[in-house]
Amino acid sequence: CGIVGIVGNREVAPLLVDALKRLEYRGYDSAGVATIADGRLDRRRAEGKLVNLEQLLAANPLPGHVGVGHTRWATHGAPTTNNAHPHFTDGVAVVHNGIIENFAPLRAELTAAGADFVTQTDTEVVAQMIAAHIRTGMDPRAATLATLQRLEGAYALAVMFDSDDGMIIGARNGPPLAVGHGKGEMFLGSDAIALAPFTDEITYLEDGDWAVVTRAGAEIYDHNGNRVTRASQISKGTAYVVDKGNHRHFMEKEIYEQGEVVSHTLANYLDFAGGRVKPDTSGIDFAALDRLAISACGTAYYAGLIGKYWFERFARLPVEIDVASEFRYREMPLTGTMAALFITQSGETADTLASLRYCKAQGVRIGSVVNVVESTIARESDAVFPTLAGPEIGVASTKAFTCQLSVLASLAMIAGRARGTLSDADEKAMVQALVEAPRLFNQILNTIQPQIEALSRELSRFKDVLYLGRGTSYPLALEGALKLKEISYIHAEGYAAGELKHGPIALIDETMPVIVIAPHDRLFEKTVSNMQEVAARGGQIILITDAAGAKASTLKTMATIVLPEVSEIVAPILYALPVQLIAYHTAVFMGTDVDQPRNLAKSVTVE
Ligand code: G6P
Repeated sequence: CGIVGIVGNREVAPLLVDALKRLEYRGYDSAGVATIADGRLDRRRAEGKLVNLEQLLAANPLPGHVGVGHTRWATHGAPTTNNAHPHFTDGVAVVHNGIIENFAPLRAELTAAGADFVTQTDTEVVAQMIAAHIRTGMDPRAATLATLQRLEGAYALAVMFDSDDGMIIGARNGPPLAVGHGKGEMFLGSDAIALAPFTDEITYLEDGDWAVVTRAGAEIYDHNGNRVTRASQISKGTAYVVDKGNHRHFMEKEIYEQGEVVSHTLANYLDFAGGRVKPDTSGIDFAALDRLAISACGTAYYAGLIGKYWFERFARLPVEIDVASEFRYREMPLTGTMAALFITQSGETADTLASLRYCKAQGVRIGSVVNVVESTIARESDAVFPTLAGPEIGVASTKAFTCQLSVLASLAMIAGRARGTLSDADEKAMVQALVEAPRLFNQILNTIQPQIEALSRELSRFKDVLYLGRGTSYPLALEGALKLKEISYIHAEGYAAGELKHGPIALIDETMPVIVIAPHDRLFEKTVSNMQEVAARGGQIILITDAAGAKASTLKTMATIVLPEVSEIVAPILYALPVQLIAYHTAVFMGTDVDQPRNLAKSVTVE
C-alpha cells in the first residue's frame, strides 16, 4: 500500500491524489483520502483504480489544508469501498500499510470493551484503540504511543485527529515512511518519489520511530517515547520524470530503455576502454569467502539464480540461493567466512529485508544489488551494488532484471579475479562482449518485434504454456513463465529442460505450446534432445536461439526467433528481451491491464 500525508496551507485533496498517482505501483485495489476542515474529519473512498477516486472527488470535493491519502493492496478484508482506508473511529483517521499480526486478540479485547467494528480490516484496530485511549483522557500523542506499543507486525501509519487540525502522526515499523520538509508545509509519504512534486528534502523514519508532523516541522520519537534525531537528506529519487513518453505502457517503455540503462549500469563496474572490471571498493573480500548466500523474491530471485551459475563457474565460489520467504525461516547454518547477497529492485521487500536482518544478526557481511539506493535494504547493507535502471513503474520487472544481471555478471568477474579463477584473457573477452550488449538490445528490438507480435496473437489463444531452458537459460525459462502468467493471466510454467521427462511431458499435446530458450552454447545439443521429445508427442515448439542454433535444429517449429550470436555471459541479458516481449504483446492482445495486473503490487512490504 502507499501512504501520503500533508499538513499544508492550501487545498490538499488534489495534492494527495497527485501523490497517490505516484504511489499507485504499491497497490491499486482501492484508494481513499481524508481531510480535516473546521474541526471535522471527512473522507472519500473508492474501489478499484485511482481514477474512480478522482471522479468521486470531482463530483464531491473535499475541502481542507490537512489530509492523508492511501492506495491499497488488500491483505485483510476484500478490496471494497468499506474496507478502503482511511478508517475512521470517533474523530481518529488512520491509513496503514502492512499487517497488524495480533489484530484478532486486539479486536476481541476492544469489542469486549464496547468497540463497534465496521470493517474486516486489521487497520481498524489501530483507529479503535487510539480512540479508546483518547476517551480515557489521553492526548493524541500519548494515545498513539500507547497503541503503537501494543501492535505486533509490520506497519507504516499516518493518523489524523479532529481535535487538532495542524498535526499528523506518522509511525514506522517495517514498511518505509518518510517525512518531507516544505516551506510552511510538511509531508509524509511511503517514498521520496511520491513527495517529489512537493519537496526533495526527506527524512527517513527508522523502525520503531514515530513522528509528530506539524507545519513547523517534525518531532521524531522512538518506541519508548524518547525524542530522537534523524538526519534529513536531499533525495535523488525526485529528479526523475515518471512519464510513459510515446509508449502505450510503462512496461513497453521500460523494455525499450534497457539498452541505455544496462549500459549505464555496466559502466559503473567495467572499465570499457581497458577491457577489465573496475577495482572493487565494496569491502567484500571475495578471495576470502568459502560460500555466498543469495536471497531475493520474484524476478530478482531469478536474476540471483543466473548469478549462481556465474559465481560458481567464473569465480569457483559456491552459492546457496533461496527465495527470501523460505530463506528467512530456513535456519541455514551461517559462518563468518561467507557473505550474503540480496537482490531487490525496490529495496523494501519485506521477506528480503527479513533475510538480510537474519544474516546481519549473525555477523555475516551483507551486500545488496538494489535499484533504489535510499531504500531500507541499501541503508542496512555493508556494501551496495546499485543497478542504475531508474524508476521502474510497470509492476512486471523488466529493466531492473537486466540491470541486476549486468551487476551480477560484473560481480562474478570481480570475484573471479579476486580468487584467481578468471584469466586476464577471459576477463577481457567477457568485458568486450558485455560492452557490445547495450547496442544489441536496440538491434534485437527492431528485428524481432513484428515476429513476436504475430506469435503473441497466436499464443493469446492458448490456456497453458511451458518454458524450457538449460544452464542460465533455465532461470530465464522460469522468468518467462512468471512474466506471462502475471500480466496475461495465461497459465505458464518454467522447467529445466532436463526435467521435462520427469513430469511435464505428461501434459504435452497440441494445446500446450513449449517455448524453448536455447542459444547455441555447450548445452544446446542436450536441449535439442528435449525438443525432440516434445515434437514426438505432437507438441508445438517456439524456439528462441541464434543463427547457429536455428541452423543446427532441423525440427519444425511454430516460430523460431533468431537473436545475434553472443558470448555466454551476455546471452541471459539479451535473451530476456524476447521473453519480456512475448509476455507484453500477449497481454496486450488479451486486453489486460499490463502495467497494473490484477492482485499484484510492485513493492511488497508485507510477509
Ligand atoms: C513483486 C513485483 C516483482 C518483483 C518482486 C520483488 O512481486 O511484482 O516484479 O520481482 O516483487 O521485488 P523487489 O523490489 O524486491 O525486486
